[in-house]
Amino acid sequence: MSKKWWKEAVCYQVYPRSFYDANNDGIGDLQGVISKLDYLKWLGIDVIWLSPMYDSPNDDNGYDIRDYKEIMEEFGSMADFDQLLDEVHARGMKLIIDLVINHTSDEHEWFVESRSSKESEKRDWYIWRDAQADGSEPNNWASIFNGPAWEWDEKTEQYYMHIFSTKQPDLNWENKEVRDTLYETMNWWMNKGIDGFRVDAISHIKKIDGLPDLPNETEETFVESFDGHMNRPGIHDYLQEMKRETLDQHDVFTVGEANGVRMENPDDVAAWVGENNGVFNMVFQFEHLGLWGKDAEQKLDVAAVKEALSKWQYGLEGLGWNALFIENHDQTRAVSSWGNDEEYWNLCAKALGTMYFFMKGTPFIYQGQEIGMTNVQFDSIEEYDDVSMRNYYKQESAKGVPHEEIMQVVWSQGRDNSRTPLQWSTEKNGGFSQADNTWLKVNPNYREINVDSQKADPSSILSFYRKMIEVRKQYDTLVYGTYQLRDVGVEEVFVYERHGQDDTFTIAVNLSEEAHRFEHEGNGTIILSNYDEADSQQLKPYEARIYRKTNS
Ligand code: GLC
Ligand code: CA
Repeated sequence: MSKKWWKEAVCYQVYPRSFYDANNDGIGDLQGVISKLDYLKWLGIDVIWLSPMYDSPNDDNGYDIRDYKEIMEEFGSMADFDQLLDEVHARGMKLIIDLVINHTSDEHEWFVESRSSKESEKRDWYIWRDAQADGSEPNNWASIFNGPAWEWDEKTEQYYMHIFSTKQPDLNWENKEVRDTLYETMNWWMNKGIDGFRVDAISHIKKIDGLPDLPNETEETFVESFDGHMNRPGIHDYLQEMKRETLDQHDVFTVGEANGVRMENPDDVAAWVGENNGVFNMVFQFEHLGLWGKDAEQKLDVAAVKEALSKWQYGLEGLGWNALFIENHDQTRAVSSWGNDEEYWNLCAKALGTMYFFMKGTPFIYQGQEIGMTNVQFDSIEEYDDVSMRNYYKQESAKGVPHEEIMQVVWSQGRDNSRTPLQWSTEKNGGFSQADNTWLKVNPNYREINVDSQKADPSSILSFYRKMIEVRKQYDTLVYGTYQLRDVGVEEVFVYERHGQDDTFTIAVNLSEEAHRFEHEGNGTIILSNYDEADSQQLKPYEARIYRKTNS
């Protein structure tokens, strides 16, 4: 497979609301991102993925777009965006933006027009249906964010579909005008000089024909609706058209958010991400997510993680390219959920980093992951922002579930765990902002966990991430070499190899709090490790080693 700059790149996701607040109103902004670009450059980052910065009422923090060609006021102006793009390029980095085209905000002028009357010329731009005879929703689909996937419109007496929040009506991709308008929007941004897109929720654009009820084996009125809208047959017609009309015309890099794309269906995977005719350069697949215990007692299912990740490693060999990640703004913090954020915090964050970073693919780091930021536990639901958890709280408390019980779920699964402001220093608000109140509270552990103190400490998680990036860039084999899982007979020990023409790497990671047998001999020299000394017979708790040997 051919060499490409984006295969060699390391990417970093910026969630602008929580990155850095330059004007001290408590909300991160574009000038804040600009002022920290040197930090990202220092870390070794090549590509920045910026979460949505478009005009939005922020029901879902920018994933509900009101105007595709305006910047959210709280974040700055288009001039700030242009400056950001220039400054990123001036540092030899690239900028990709989040493209949210499964839905818009209900405040987008298209939707305002669409809901104004049944006769509106944009009525068909969204998915409107009559109520059933008894007045109930057109079908039994639940929204991904809880409650029904339908919202009643008083004025025109129909329901509209929203598979996410009520303020995120789904666009009707069956309508050619809708598609053409979205393509025009994409081209407009690419003509501006951005380097590509992370394409949001793109596997949901095609809905099943006729929007039928889904089988309901539960007592709930509304059932999980993925089978109705996730990676449905026919989606590739839209994706290929989109590619032809937009991506093919520009030199850009793309990563699709592809929930429901599974390695069991190699032809489908090829259509998504095949190097020859696939739509995207890579996709975020979901098969390794949710494999950690949902309550505190349960542990990460290491065997399942190995299986899921290896399946994609083998499956894409010679076919396409992987996007590697363990965190993003929708996931909890890996060190807390997948590992141990107390006694083994430092070792564990490094071990999890090592586990995914040297696989074949392009690694993504989510802001704060590089300093081992952890989950939070705020007492009241009022201190949370995430629309999905707020809906969940409402729904469960209406059923009489006690506060403590609901909060356990919010604490262990809520998306705000990863959205608290980035901890820069020991100063007020972790140095994120001088404001008295930040949009979401800073994790109180900022005095112990922050960029400043880790920058100065060679044994910090941050220093380790910087070294990982350096090592990955030093050896071609770590980018292009083939992947091979090695069975060492211990479930908690994840060992894999990368094979190149000149050298072979062995990545050995103990994902548990116990020492486990591991034979040092024969793997070559250790080039990076999270312990100072290596025992020749075992890996200590959360020990991670990278070996290199030249091929003879
Ligand atoms: C994607 C985003 C998530 C958002 C959803 C709806 O999954 O990553 O944050 O809530 O799409 O746009
Ligand atoms: Ca601000």
